[in-house]
Amino acid sequence: MNKQVVIVGASRGIGIELTRFFSRLPDFTIFALARNCENLKKEFGQSEQVKIFSFDLEGDIPVQLANIPFSEEGIDFLINNAGKLVKKPFLSLTQNDIDSSFRVNVIGVMQTVQCLIKHFDKSFCHVVNISSMGAYQGSVKFPELSAYAASKAALCNFTELFAEEFKSSPYKMNCLCLGAVQTEMLEEAFPGYLAPLTAPQMAAFIGDFTLKNGFFMNGKILPISLSTP
Ligand SMILES: NC(=O)c1ccc[n+]([C@@H]2O[C@H](COP(=O)([O-])OP(=O)(O)OC[C@H]3O[C@@H](n4cnc5c(N)ncnc54)[C@H](OP(=O)(O)O)[C@@H]3O)[C@@H](O)[C@H]2O)c1
Repeated sequence: MNKQVVIVGASRGIGIELTRFFSRLPDFTIFALARNCENLKKEFGQSEQVKIFSFDLEGDIPVQLANIPFSEEGIDFLINNAGKLVKKPFLSLTQNDIDSSFRVNVIGVMQTVQCLIKHFDKSFCHVVNISSMGAYQGSVKFPELSAYAASKAALCNFTELFAEEFKSSPYKMNCLCLGAVQTEMLEEAFPGYLAPLTAPQMAAFIGDFTLKNGFFMNGKILPISLSTP
């Protein structure tokens, strides 16, 4: 039976690798969402399987999602992978830095789930939120990441609250707190740092986790890291 996965933040880094991961599974339709769709169109423009839509978590989320033709079979998996990382000393953060970090990393995710829930498969849907080790309670912290890590911590908290409110429903939500992965985001924030994992490796883990673990856990915040203690 055909399965539908929605990937938010699908255009580069771990997100485009997730799109590749699911496109290798024959029974999947992938809804690939991001602001910059050129990469996706170049690689998947001719694909019947990958549907590409321009989507900005800082824009009008209900309006943008209302224009996407999800099939009536329902969404089986939603991966909230998009992220915004502002790296600045705390006292230099502007209101816009803080607002847009929270908008992309948590508020937009909450609104996306509010809008998409009516399209979830009525018998099961697994939502996976992508957070960071910087947001994981008790982990080692790094300076200049307060807007990023605080907003990702809110995403972890939302995961627990959603899972509680929907615990008797067929909808499951879990959150993965990633350690360092070699992507453009990491390179921009920490030039020269070499991460122990590549984007394809992490995407394979996340893809596998998404497919299997909604049947076994709900509301969990899991550290997925070789790098951060
Ligand atoms: N790489 C790491 O070491 C690391 C560590 C911990 C956690 N993470 C988390 O893992 C996820 C993927 O990270 P990555 O390293 O692959 O980052 P990346 O290379 O910067 O990719 C981020 C993705 O998010 C999308 N995005 C950003 N702002 C958006 C917006 N306003 N609306 C919609 N989409 C938006 C980007 O697409 P467009 O620009 O085209 O919109 C892109 O596809 C993020 O949530 C990140 O915080 C990464």
